[in-house]
Amino acid sequence: MVKTAVLVSGGGTNLQAIIDANILGEIKNCELTAVISSNPEAYALTRAQYAKIPTYIVDKNIFPNRDSFTQAIVNKLNDLDIELVVLAGFMYVLTERFTKEFKNRVINIHPALIPAFCGDGYYGIHVHEKVLAFGAKISGATAHFVSEVTDDGPIIMQKSVDVLEDDTPETLQRRIMEQAEWKILPQSISLFCEGRLRVEGRIVHIKEATNESN
Ligand code: GAR
Repeated sequence: MVKTAVLVSGGGTNLQAIIDANILGEIKNCELTAVISSNPEAYALTRAQYAKIPTYIVDKNIFPNRDSFTQAIVNKLNDLDIELVVLAGFMYVLTERFTKEFKNRVINIHPALIPAFCGDGYYGIHVHEKVLAFGAKISGATAHFVSEVTDDGPIIMQKSVDVLEDDTPETLQRRIMEQAEWKILPQSISLFCEGRLRVEGRIVHIKEATNESN
């Protein structure tokens, strides 16, 4: 079983999708070892506690800078022998200290079709505000490995979602979560834990399932 930590900052609907898919057996070979929150008030912590997953708080606000915050997260992941890290609504960009140590072992979910509407300043509801302001007709979600550059790492899975005429940022966000994020994030975690992902440069190859991984 791949020891997996989920990093969160807020509501945790993506965490819930992971918990539910794991209970249903849709994620194979994954142990949800820890949920780590940057925010002591995050509702995601309550979701984890209901699911009996150990929770830890690494409170962003008590650290003087990004380096010391990153170091605290890395220490916690190493203490727990974590093999896979999932960023599920984790709202901070960590330093190279983290991305180098966990290279191709961190999966992020981004609520748009990378390389559109991504990078610094594109997070949470702001992504959907910018999609609507630009007049895009399609958006969606991307599950990708995290690299040194924000939202630039190798893409594992993407799913598109139509933008509707009367969408608000909130309705678009919700539809993208339901139709894309909550599906491709658990699927990507399973592919990783089954050992079916091979990264070559920035291309992610997905191996066919074998009988053992079924
Ligand atoms: C999700 O839409 C996620 O894709 C996004 O924030 C939301 C968190 O919701 N993440 C980012 O924008 C990261 N750049 P959740 O806490 O309910 O999963």
